Amino acid sequence: MESHALDIEELKSYVGFGPEDESELAALQGPAAKDLDTLLGRFYGTIDQHQGAREVFKDPEKQRPRLRRTMASWVLTLLEGPYDREYAERRLAIGRAHVQNQMPQRYMLTSMNVIRGWFMELCSRVHLDDPARILKAVHATNKVLDIELAMMLATYRDDLLARMQRQERLATLGELAAGIHHELKNPLAAVRTSAFALRERRSVRADARARGLLERIDTNVDRATEIITDLLSFARLRNPSRRNVSVHDLVKSAVGRVTIPPSIQLTLDLDPDLPAVNVDSAQLEQVIVNLLANAFDACGDDGGVRITSRMVAGRVAVVITDDGDGIHERDLLRVFEPLYSTKPEGVGLGLSLSQHLARANNAKLAIASTHGEGTAVTIVFGA
Ligand code: HEM
Repeated sequence: MESHALDIEELKSYVGFGPEDESELAALQGPAAKDLDTLLGRFYGTIDQHQGAREVFKDPEKQRPRLRRTMASWVLTLLEGPYDREYAERRLAIGRAHVQNQMPQRYMLTSMNVIRGWFMELCSRVHLDDPARILKAVHATNKVLDIELAMMLATYRDDLLARMQRQERLATLGELAAGIHHELKNPLAAVRTSAFALRERRSVRADARARGLLERIDTNVDRATEIITDLLSFARLRNPSRRNVSVHDLVKSAVGRVTIPPSIQLTLDLDPDLPAVNVDSAQLEQVIVNLLANAFDACGDDGGVRITSRMVAGRVAVVITDDGDGIHERDLLRVFEPLYSTKPEGVGLGLSLSQHLARANNAKLAIASTHGEGTAVTIVFGA
C-alpha cells in the first residue's frame, strides 16, 4: 500500500530542509563511511539489551548481517540524496519492511536517537575548529532524521489504516452475508423442491432434454448454496478455542475431509516429530481444506499437489504446493482481499477467510507463486 498522504517536498519545507543542509550532509559522507562500525555497534547494542527488540529478528543469523549491510547503505544514501520522490519511495519501503517484521513503532524512537547522537559526535569531530559549522551540520542531520522518522511512522499509520479498512470490510461483509443467507434460503429451497417435483413427472422422465435442464438447475442451486455457506462462515467467525495439537494429525484430518480429484496426485511429506501447535483444530483444518481446494482447482485436469510440514526459521510450517498455472504477479497482491477472485466462478472468499482464521489462531499465511509454474502457500504457526 502506498503512503498517500506523504509528500516529501511538503515534509522538507516543514522542517526547513534546503540546499544548504544538503551540502552540509554531503560534507559528512567520507567521515561517516569511516565510522560506520561505531554506529552499527551502538545500534545493535540498544537492540540487544532489550528482549522485545531482540525478538523482532525471527531469523537472526540471516537478518542481522543483512541489516548491517542495509543500515550502512541507509546512512550513506541519507547523506547523499537526492531527496526526491524516488528517495521517499525507497525509505517508505524500509518502513514497510519494519511493519512486515512486526517491529513495534516505539522501538524506532530510541534507535533514531542513537543515530542522532552518533551524527552529533561526527559533526563535532569533522568541524572541530568551527563551532558555527558544527551547529549547521547538526541542524542539517537533525532535519534529515526528522524527515526519515516521519516517513517511517507514516508506514505504520498506513498499515493501521489498511487493517482498519479490512476489518470494516469484513464486518460489512458479515452483516451482508447473514442478510443474504436469510433472504435466499427459502427461494433456493423452493427451486430445489420444485425441480424435484418436476423430475417425478412422467412426461419429464421421458424427456432427456428436460432431465438435463433439471440437472443444471440442481447443480446451480448447489453452487449458490455453497456460496451462501461460505459467506456465512464470515458472518459466524467464532472465537477460536485453542489447544495443543499435532500438525501431523491436523493435516491428516483435513486431507480426510476433501475429495481428491482422480486426476490429481496428492503427496504428503510430513515430519511426525514437529512440536505441537496451539490452535483451534477445526478452524485450522478448514484453512487446510480451503487451501487444498484452491490447489486442486489450480491444477485443472491433471497435476500434483504436495503438503509438506517442517520447521521454518524456528517455527512450525505447513506448505501446500501445486504445480498449476500459478498466479499473476498483479493478482498476488490482492488474493487475500475478500471478494477478490481470479477464478471465473469464484466468489473470492476462500483465501481471505483462511487468512482471517489463521490470524485468529496466531498463524500466518504466505503465498509465493510463479506464473506458469505453480503456487506455494505456507501456514506459519505461532507467527
Ligand atoms: C532508525 C532506526 C532504523 C533504521 C534506519 C533501520 C533501517 C533498516 C533498513 C534500511 C532495513 C532494510 C529494509 C529492506 O531491505 O527493505 C531494515 C530492515 C529491518 N529492520 Fe530496521 N532500522 C531501524 C530500526 C530497527 C529496529 C529498532 C529494529 C528491531 C528492533 C529493526 C529491525 C529490522 C528488521 C528485522 C529488518 C528486516 C531485516 C531483513 O530481514 O533483511 N530495525 N531496517
